[in-house]
Amino acid sequence: SLGNGGFTRPYQSIASQVLYGKWNDLPKKVQHYVQDNVKLCKPDTIHICDGSDRENEMLLYILQRDGMIKPLPKMDNCWLARTDPKDVARVESRTFISTENMRDTIPVVKNGITGTLGNWMSPDDLDTELNMRFPGCMKGRTMFVIPFSMGPVGSALSKIGIELTDSAYVAASMRIMTRVGKKVLKTLGNGDFVKCLHSVGAPYPLKEPMVSNWPCNPKETIIAHLPERNEICSYGSGYGGNSLLGKKCFALRLGSILGRREGWLAEHMLILGIENSKGEKKYFAAAFPSACGKTNLAMMKSALPDYKITCVGDDIAWMRFDKDGKLRAINPEAGFFGVAPGTSMKTNPMAMETISRNTIFTNVAETSDGGVFWEGLEGEVSRTTKIKSWLGVEDWHAEQGKPAAHPNSRFCTPAAQCPIMDERWQDPEGVPIEAIIFGGRRPEGVPLVYEAFNWQHGVYIGASMRSEATAAAEHKSKVIMHDPFAMRPFFGYNFGHYLEHWLSFQQKQDLDLPKIYHVNWFRKDKNGRFMWPGFGENSRVLDWIFRRVNGEDCAVQSAIGNLPRKGSLNLEGLQEDVDMDALFSIPKEYWQKEVKDIGKYFDEQVHEDLPPEIMKELRSLEARVNSM
Ligand code: PEP
Ligand code: NA
Ligand code: MN
Repeated sequence: SLGNGGFTRPYQSIASQVLYGKWNDLPKKVQHYVQDNVKLCKPDTIHICDGSDRENEMLLYILQRDGMIKPLPKMDNCWLARTDPKDVARVESRTFISTENMRDTIPVVKNGITGTLGNWMSPDDLDTELNMRFPGCMKGRTMFVIPFSMGPVGSALSKIGIELTDSAYVAASMRIMTRVGKKVLKTLGNGDFVKCLHSVGAPYPLKEPMVSNWPCNPKETIIAHLPERNEICSYGSGYGGNSLLGKKCFALRLGSILGRREGWLAEHMLILGIENSKGEKKYFAAAFPSACGKTNLAMMKSALPDYKITCVGDDIAWMRFDKDGKLRAINPEAGFFGVAPGTSMKTNPMAMETISRNTIFTNVAETSDGGVFWEGLEGEVSRTTKIKSWLGVEDWHAEQGKPAAHPNSRFCTPAAQCPIMDERWQDPEGVPIEAIIFGGRRPEGVPLVYEAFNWQHGVYIGASMRSEATAAAEHKSKVIMHDPFAMRPFFGYNFGHYLEHWLSFQQKQDLDLPKIYHVNWFRKDKNGRFMWPGFGENSRVLDWIFRRVNGEDCAVQSAIGNLPRKGSLNLEGLQEDVDMDALFSIPKEYWQKEVKDIGKYFDEQVHEDLPPEIMKELRSLEARVNSM
């Protein structure tokens, strides 16, 4: 160290701090970004990521040395990380978007109402918050410089970011979730990039002892987006959604802003391919809130033998209308950061195969023979295997009343390992989307599937999405939450403006607008049992959508949208007895209440920023329901 506090640290000393990689490989703009933040954060050393295998070995070595991961010898190159139990999920209450004008970020709410569609902070206040945290925050640590591409390197639809982080866990995970390395820097040249700064917020000497060898700073956690500076600053959490900044922060929050500016869409959607036995193939995109089965649907094994499903992506879609008016989608990611509990050979065999190697697990339980365990795998471990819970309880038993794995425990695994990746999943042109599907966990009132009458009605349906809360964020109980477009935690800008952006495509000439659907796999009967078997059987719904997109006359109008005509849903070979009338019933009182709830939500939360077209759709729905 120069002993000068770093303020006038000359360029030469930065280069000498680089222990891995070459300073001169970095384009000038990147060097400046690194230099500024080395001065600010004061890491001991710098590692410039090149994406090589040698680098991966080094990261895994460092992580083991520091006790942050351990090998899972039953599996092939798989690792287990256990976090501080205070750092296990996205922290929505500490996630901010900072713009000059508040209204660019969040809708003006009704008088006396607390907004739930994002958190805004003024640039001055954010400056204060960041200045309280980042100076010296990497002391005693290595700063990893991660050049990454969201989307295939060099695709016109892709975007490049540079993440600076003091977490080797983040560096190792970003290598899985995004495309990292030299090729990215070459493509970037001296172009602009999204600036992503991340620190676990635990400089040496530590103020408090670490828990589970997992550095973090939950009291000071903040995840800040500065769209006007193309910048993300995240502090205090090492957990995925808060720290792998390419994912939710860049690909969704900043992405949605860029999308509006540049005329495209960044959405919380899976992308799947569906091919019938005649070789006819389509691509669908589907938005469900976190932990509602996007990964399962994206990798589904079709129960209908006529169909083959392929996976393009399981979480995020970047979509743009091409010159022929077709909506084209890419998956900006290169891996899956999926919820582990509930994943099994029964629910998602393709995911099970995918995660059998080169995977980092976080907060799952481990078995005495060196494998993994979580709720849902009860049938797939032998009775003699001992289980150690995510909290380290050595002889875990279900009777102890606590889950073995944290409900938001995750696998981080390369997409390329999924046996049913679509042959075009890395196509730089993207794949053509012919249907958009919205859905949520709706235990009551909402039928298995219905179709929007048109684009505007479809946008209304997206806006009115609701779902039972899950463990993906800090929400505790199973309340039915509004989650428009499954984007509530991920909107980068004012939801009212977002709706205008979606609606604007209707006015454009010659666009081949996809049909829009709403599905609900989670309706329950009066005994609390799911009415529909779900998983592979959901292919029956995809088949109906496929045929509708082909123009088949197999729908009837209802108050809420088009429903499958009686007998048009293919139930051949369905093992379970399903009460189809109950599954498709539309209880009038339930929907009258639904209309009222949604009207209240729009009035309170979106208020003057609600586009009149959406209010018009709500009024038409109300009239149709009332005349049922
Ligand atoms: C995450 O929390 O890191 C994440 C991937 O988000 P989601 O809740 O959508 O799974
Ligand atoms: Na740990
Ligand atoms: Mn998600």
